Amino acid sequence: MKSRKRGRHYLILAVLLTASMICCSGCKEPEYQKEQRLEERPEDMDQDDMIVVGFSQLGSESLWRSANSASIQESLSRYDGYFVVYSNARQKKENQIKAIRQFISQRVDYIVFSPMDEEGWDTVLQEAKSAGIPVILVDRKVNVSDPELYTSWVGSDMRAEGEKAGLWLEEYEQEKGLEDEEIRIVVLTGTEGATATIGRTEGFHSIADKHDNWVILEEVCGDFTTAKGEEVMAELLDKYRDIDVVISQNDDMTFGAIAAIEKAGLTTGINGDIAIASFDAVKEALLLVREGKINVDIECNPMEGDYVKEIIQTMEMGMAVHKNYWVEESVFTIDNVDEVIDSRTY
Ligand code: AHR
Repeated sequence: MKSRKRGRHYLILAVLLTASMICCSGCKEPEYQKEQRLEERPEDMDQDDMIVVGFSQLGSESLWRSANSASIQESLSRYDGYFVVYSNARQKKENQIKAIRQFISQRVDYIVFSPMDEEGWDTVLQEAKSAGIPVILVDRKVNVSDPELYTSWVGSDMRAEGEKAGLWLEEYEQEKGLEDEEIRIVVLTGTEGATATIGRTEGFHSIADKHDNWVILEEVCGDFTTAKGEEVMAELLDKYRDIDVVISQNDDMTFGAIAAIEKAGLTTGINGDIAIASFDAVKEALLLVREGKINVDIECNPMEGDYVKEIIQTMEMGMAVHKNYWVEESVFTIDNVDEVIDSRTY
């Protein structure tokens, strides 16, 4: 990698800085990102030693996503010799493809990106490979014909997360003595074609399919947002009487679902009318677990930045990296939520 960086002059970083600002113009971003860009002015840097990383984030639809963007930008800091060109695709896949092509033409050293969905990445990843730029995937995966089109992936075992929701429901059913009762379930799913949606849906089904008394009334896309979560939950409440359980594939949709349920005059959680299983375990949701409004929150860990840094550092030393890196995750209920809530930063 070092030889590719040799000879890079001031002009390239000036172009990157400008491009970074163009990529970000018009999109909402957290304050820390603005601060980091300003802080990363190249004037006082030894530019030949900097590692330039193009980072394409798929959007900012959830609290989890903002924490994920922060984690990567904080880990790849100027103080550690990184210059991050950040691009927020604002939930549009074509913006991500455009950003990756810009990174290639800017000859960045690495591309880090969290793909919107799994399909349709072969061409642009082949372009990155032909340009000799390693690609590190974060969070979601791609379904490509040649696995060599990306170097490594860092993320969660989404299928295992879905299974955990099913295992929790098995326990809940036993505790309540509901084994012989019909359990009426609705599932709020995330963005179509995204690894998180596919994995959590398959994982939950792998447990649900063993239970004849579990009736999945409907699976509806809430796109991982609070607004859509509220909208689809309100429709489901109009359509079905006696919903027992909501499986909501992220916390943001859960906030919307709870709002819709409460507007319908019902309650949620441990002593409520409708039990809720959520995913992500962001602080705002963990507070609702503590309050008893969410029964269980299956953690999805957004802190992937240090893994990315480790991969880059390993490659910079000319050493081999693993293909997959899994982050650690837990499951939170009212019984253990206090162990984590105070230290949660997102
Ligand atoms: O891919 C991870 C999922 O995407 C998180 O559960 C969700 O909050 C995010 O938007």
